[in-house]
Amino acid sequence: MSDVLLSGRGLGRRFPMPRRTLFERAGHTVALDDVDVDVREGSALGIIGESGSGKSTLVRLLLALDAPTSGTVEFAGRGVDARASARDLHWLRRETGIVFQDPYASLDPRMSVGRIVGEPLWALGVDGDRRARVREVLAEVGLEPDMAERFPHEFSGGQRQRIALARAIVHRPRLLVGDEPLSALDVTVRSQILELLTTLRARDGLTLVMVSHDIGVVQNLCDEVVVMKDGRIVEEGPTEKVLQQPQVAYTRRLLASIPAIDPDTSR
Ligand SMILES: Nc1ncnc2c1ncn2[C@@H]1O[C@H](COP(=O)(O)OP(=O)(O)OP(=O)(O)O)[C@@H](O)[C@H]1O
Ligand SMILES: [Mg+2]
Repeated sequence: MSDVLLSGRGLGRRFPMPRRTLFERAGHTVALDDVDVDVREGSALGIIGESGSGKSTLVRLLLALDAPTSGTVEFAGRGVDARASARDLHWLRRETGIVFQDPYASLDPRMSVGRIVGEPLWALGVDGDRRARVREVLAEVGLEPDMAERFPHEFSGGQRQRIALARAIVHRPRLLVGDEPLSALDVTVRSQILELLTTLRARDGLTLVMVSHDIGVVQNLCDEVVVMKDGRIVEEGPTEKVLQQPQVAYTRRLLASIPAIDPDTSR
């Protein structure tokens, strides 16, 4: 069994909820409630669950983009969350990458593609020929290296998501987290990106955490799955087992409600 790269223990996150009337007491939303999770080095973990179940909150805590109300996060054995020192956060950013769902919102329209993709290299002080690395990573995600000179509005949704992915992996992180990174893409682009992620796993030993509504994506990419409901993990295990023999009624309903397995993205 390989080592745990990322782990969360007893993770909780509450958000304050302002009172709506003078007579109502101010309360809070429990977005995450006592979650334990382990991600082994080189593995791929899928996170599924209905809307509002806490998936994005969990990945934000795991990447120190937000601080837990309770519990701890460790990356490579070192405790690090959003309250960590600048030095520790810099180290975590160097080791991780993230790609979000919306390829339109996530790219700064005023920056050239080359600057967008290369920005982590400069921000994180990664040594080496940075321009060459930008061209190399653009080719890796299936884009022309010359596209570095152009701007995001010149690209389709699928191309933009490749740009976002290139930016997330340009500094060769150990862990890549995707929060529904493939949802906005059509079937063909989605299977190309799946193939690329599979290659990165095999070639570089990249560890993956993928939030996805698409069972085909989870089945194709992930070794393990956690199922979330109301801020808790209600079921977890090897992907085949959870998808084929869900133990919890909620998981069965969830699997029945989400898009059927796509022949292009299933094994
Ligand atoms: N910044 C915030 N302020 C207040 N409430 C929040 C905030 N972020 C999340 N929540 C609440 O926490 C709960 C979990 O939200 P989260 O975004 O983690 O769900 P999700 O599983 O990612 O959903 P989706 O599939 O729709 O993306 C929801 O009830 C949400 O309204
Ligand atoms: Mg979300």
